[in-house]
Amino acid sequence: MKSLFADNMKKFEGYVIGKTLKYINDPSIISFAGGLPSNDVFPLDIIHKAAEKSLKEDWDHVLQYSPIIGEKELMLAIIDYLKKDNIHIGPENIMITTSGQHGLDLVGRLFLNPRDAIIIDMPTFGGAIAAFDMEDPEYIAIDMEEDGSDVKGMEAGIEDLLNKGKKPKFIYVVPDFQNPSGITTSLEKRYALLSLSKKHSIPIIEDSPYRELRYRGEHLPSIYSLDNNEGNVIGTYTFSKILCPGIRVGFNIGPPEVIKKFTFIKGANILNTPKLNQDICTAFLREYDLDAHFRNSIQHYAEKLNFFLEKMEEFFPKDKGIMWTKPEGGLFLWITVPEKINTLELFYMAIEEKVAFVPGDVFYPEGYRKYNAMRINFSYPTREQIVDGIRRLSEVIKKYSAKNKA
Ligand SMILES: Cc1ncc(COP(=O)(O)O)c(C=O)c1O
Repeated sequence: MKSLFADNMKKFEGYVIGKTLKYINDPSIISFAGGLPSNDVFPLDIIHKAAEKSLKEDWDHVLQYSPIIGEKELMLAIIDYLKKDNIHIGPENIMITTSGQHGLDLVGRLFLNPRDAIIIDMPTFGGAIAAFDMEDPEYIAIDMEEDGSDVKGMEAGIEDLLNKGKKPKFIYVVPDFQNPSGITTSLEKRYALLSLSKKHSIPIIEDSPYRELRYRGEHLPSIYSLDNNEGNVIGTYTFSKILCPGIRVGFNIGPPEVIKKFTFIKGANILNTPKLNQDICTAFLREYDLDAHFRNSIQHYAEKLNFFLEKMEEFFPKDKGIMWTKPEGGLFLWITVPEKINTLELFYMAIEEKVAFVPGDVFYPEGYRKYNAMRINFSYPTREQIVDGIRRLSEVIKKYSAKNKA
């Protein structure tokens, strides 16, 4: 049967993170590996209330097919919600997706022929790599800097390609508290990315799951808002991290011709997003005290992050070339270790010691993989788990270093 698979599916390996997560099913393992928002901040009250109301009062619509583009009430609620982030769009600029991952899949399907080039940061979100891999692209991956994308490096990559007669299809970035690095792209670089996009007429895909989760520092404008609706940016958003991931609802925003095509593709790949889930999102945006909800989430996560960073300082080996990012928001931080430490090997040792992280290589596309970093999720484990987990992790690194010296 395998010989009949499509060429780009033959080598497609899915979301590589899944391969490591399957080793973490032992409940005694302290996991820093997931990307899970905390159950403690889910707004259960509004979810129950909205679900009950929809099922009681609108069951005939809820149980039916619904519009491909999404529920009008939700789209209008999102349009209003985005205004406070200085994004001013109309219904022609938005489509509801069945989560952020679906939104990225649509981007790949719309723009990419096999071997088309795209520009990405390195590291970058592994789910985006998986979504784009479906189309078998050529990656131009540029190392991130402390203040975000290396825009000059990206420009050099673009020019190099143009000299070879090829033009990249888009630039994919996660400017706010990037998954996996936790890095935030500075204002200056947001403007620079936009200029680069305009100069070469290459759209920016701005993926923004974490924008509301800022714990310190100044709120920065999205690249979408800086573009003033000139059509150079496509935004992908999700309710996963601000409401809950189980709901599987997100939205893509962008120029009308792009949204129209996304709708055609969605019609062919999943048809509609469940109305019940969309109704819950509408109630969340329209009826819930969002300010209080975000304040609560931010307080919860900020405490976890600060505690995590404190314990890292306390337990982690110093002066050994080990560094970690200190994110201003989001759910992740990124630990870089000396090149002689292979974090994929370290991962299996860590599992034995009952602590887990995501080895960094899954956040690089094939051909660019690096093995001296790891992604850490600080938002899910309890305080006790954070202390024990960091202690175990530092021991594992010491053990690995001793073993490889011998
Ligand atoms: C950067 C980024 N984009 C998109 C997603 C997709 O989220 P979901 O499919 O849960 O909406 C995630 C999830 O972790 C993410 O970190």
